[in-house]
Amino acid sequence: MPNTLMDSCQIIVVLIASTLLPTVYGAASSVAWCYHDSNCSYTTWPTIATKYCNGSSQSPIDIVSASAKGDSKLTSFTFTKFGDNSSMTHIKNKGKTVQVELASGVQVSGGGLTETYDSLQFHLHWGNGSSSLGSEHTVDGKRFPMELHIVNVKSSLNKNTTLAVQDPAGLAALGFFIEAASGNGTGTPASWKTLTSYLTTITKNGDISNITSGISLDDLLTGVDRTKYYRYQGSLTTPNCNEAVVWTVFKDTIKISQDLINQFYTTVHIDNTSTTLMVNTFRGIQPTNGRVVTTQAASGAGSTSGSSYLLGLMSLLAFLLRR
Ligand SMILES: *[C@@H]1O[C@H](CO)[C@@H](O)[C@H](O)[C@H]1NC(C)=O
Ligand SMILES: *[C@@H]1O[C@H](CO)[C@@H](O)[C@H](O)[C@H]1NC(C)=O
Ligand SMILES: *[C@@H]1O[C@H](CO)[C@@H](O)[C@H](O)[C@H]1NC(C)=O
Ligand SMILES: *[C@@H]1O[C@H](CO)[C@@H](O)[C@H](O)[C@H]1NC(C)=O
Ligand SMILES: *[C@@H]1O[C@H](CO)[C@@H](O)[C@H](O)[C@H]1NC(C)=O
Ligand SMILES: *[C@@H]1O[C@H](CO)[C@@H](O)[C@H](O)[C@H]1NC(C)=O
Ligand SMILES: *[C@@H]1O[C@H](CO)[C@@H](O)[C@H](O)[C@H]1NC(C)=O
Ligand SMILES: *[C@@H]1O[C@H](CO)[C@@H](O)[C@H](O)[C@H]1NC(C)=O
Ligand SMILES: [Zn+2]
Repeated sequence: MPNTLMDSCQIIVVLIASTLLPTVYGAASSVAWCYHDSNCSYTTWPTIATKYCNGSSQSPIDIVSASAKGDSKLTSFTFTKFGDNSSMTHIKNKGKTVQVELASGVQVSGGGLTETYDSLQFHLHWGNGSSSLGSEHTVDGKRFPMELHIVNVKSSLNKNTTLAVQDPAGLAALGFFIEAASGNGTGTPASWKTLTSYLTTITKNGDISNITSGISLDDLLTGVDRTKYYRYQGSLTTPNCNEAVVWTVFKDTIKISQDLINQFYTTVHIDNTSTTLMVNTFRGIQPTNGRVVTTQAASGAGSTSGSSYLLGLMSLLAFLLRR
């Protein structure tokens, strides 16, 4: 299928300086990359984009929950304008993902971040079919159907992504897993029904559509306890894979009905002739290389405090018995 190969490996040159609202997704990549053709799929990125996809702090990773270390600095976040129902301006088919641009003033702070970050956009990663899952991160080896990424840049950098990708904490990404809601209801929740209704208006690469229905980020993040998350230092998950991202991956999942998940891999295309569906839009798991994943300390969740408490009790008991 030479046509398919060509279509999915178009050279995307993103000239940061010339974009009004720089999109971090694929920032400054001048490399022809793709998700599933053998000469440009993610296994080739370390060789076709040696800056920086061959690095040692790459994303995504498999999060091993039992190895996550407690960190009392991982406090709750402050989300500004996440409840604003006019903060999503437009939705775009970028050929590699579907991305929603956010109005200025949407911000994230707290959560152990060193300063306030401006929220630029969110985009999604998905699989191909109800049994072909497409999250980027995995937890204890488990992959989820989809993953939503909200991309934020340090406010002090004035949305200059050239500077942001040179700073190990220039970007903060918020990752949310999406799962199929149990039961067989369709079109739920309403916020996701609204969001996915735009997909039919952006079926071709380059299509863009204004968002006019009043949905907020809070509406989309329904059901997620945003005080419980994993944190680690990583990279962009697309070339040039810059190691400039403080990752937050939330433990709770967003639950939407299967029919809405299905719309992603059956509606949008990677080309502008509606030839090839956009499917399996995720990078494979990268080695942690000794990086430590942290999480909230208090609950003891994910740390070994529960078992060490038990061990402590047992040795105390042994000590008492020996007396
Ligand atoms: C992959 O192959 C396609 C089709 O031959 C070509 O257009 C594309 O440039 C190639 N990509 C890379 C990174 O070599
Ligand atoms: C970003 O910062 C760099 C370095 O200071 C500067 O050269 C560039 O013009 C800035 N880009 C934008 C879009 O402001
Ligand atoms: C990545 O590739 C570049 C260019 O070939 C090389 O200089 C660098 O050492 C490589 N980095 C790693 C971690 O292998
Ligand atoms: C996606 O799934 C469809 C239906 O099962 C299949 O025909 C197609 O080859 C798959 N595409 C990829 C790229 O795996
Ligand atoms: C699915 O829908 C049918 C018909 O509305 C209902 O009888 C059944 O209990 C539902 N199953 C689940 C698992 O919700
Ligand atoms: C989309 O919004 C922009 C900016 O608000 C506006 O200029 C443009 O006309 C809108 N496009 C459509 C098709 O409504
Ligand atoms: C958007 O928010 C405003 C102010 O809170 C409210 O009056 C309006 O009804 C909301 N619109 C929708 C579509 O939810
Ligand atoms: C469609 O994509 C082709 C190849 O990338 C490009 O040359 C052409 O200008 C595009 N057409 C439209 C209408 O965007
Ligand atoms: Zn992403």
